[in-house]
Amino acid sequence: ASPADQLQNKNKVLNISHRGASGHAPEHTLLAYELGEKMKGDYIEVDLQMTKDGELIAMHDETLDRTTNGTGLVKDYTLAEVKQLDAGSWFNEKYPELAKEEYVGLQVPTLEEVIETFGKGNRYYIETKSPEVYPGMEEKLLEVLKKYGLSGKKAASGKVLIQSFSSDSLKIVHELDPQIPLVQLLWYDHAAGITDAELNSYKEYSIGVGMNFDMLDKAYVQKVRQHGLEIHPYTVNEKDDMHRLIDWGVTGLFTNFPDRLQEVLKER
Ligand code: G3P
Ligand code: CA
Repeated sequence: ASPADQLQNKNKVLNISHRGASGHAPEHTLLAYELGEKMKGDYIEVDLQMTKDGELIAMHDETLDRTTNGTGLVKDYTLAEVKQLDAGSWFNEKYPELAKEEYVGLQVPTLEEVIETFGKGNRYYIETKSPEVYPGMEEKLLEVLKKYGLSGKKAASGKVLIQSFSSDSLKIVHELDPQIPLVQLLWYDHAAGITDAELNSYKEYSIGVGMNFDMLDKAYVQKVRQHGLEIHPYTVNEKDDMHRLIDWGVTGLFTNFPDRLQEVLKER
């Protein structure tokens, strides 16, 4: 199948709920993911870290400090210890205007809990974070996907995408299961440019690329598309940026506000 055919709907701009609907609720909690689903996100984005006892959890940072009441590195704590933490109160403190009592005491979910809660029918866009800190995390991830029937044909149909800034991590996944569609993440601190050689090398293992949106231009987006690759910029929260990027031809957007992207897609 062509790269585009591997995705769930090749004619649609994918609405990717970044860390869940994290503009409305504390990121990487089941409530944020649920809200993403309600707001018509096509994919739940899950960043992965790994505990001391080898459990994959949904968390963006390598440390617990920002999004829980704990402190220190995730890799120094067991899952049982991480489960004691409050992953919601920080949001109420940081965003009093969005605070809700129900966020107090929310737990950090494991990847398995996320899949058990949202089911095989859902779509997951999973990032291996800091893979150099967590040797074996790719194997663990694929074990979980297999356990829940999300590898094999399900993966090939785009139910699961795996993304990483680490090409080494993506290549490990590709070696273990070449059917899972992969997305290479990139980051630019100046006007983005991409060579044919770079695109050809990403194409060897991935179906697309994702990068910070603010350094892009139309020529970049079109070059990626001409190479037959998907392009999913992050993290796009304002409607005028969404419209512009869609005009340029992006095939998906990571957003903290899947409700806004849904409105934009309906307006067009
Ligand atoms: O995965 C896309 C985007 O989320 C990458 O940046 O730091 O939010 O994981 P980050
Ligand atoms: Ca991410």
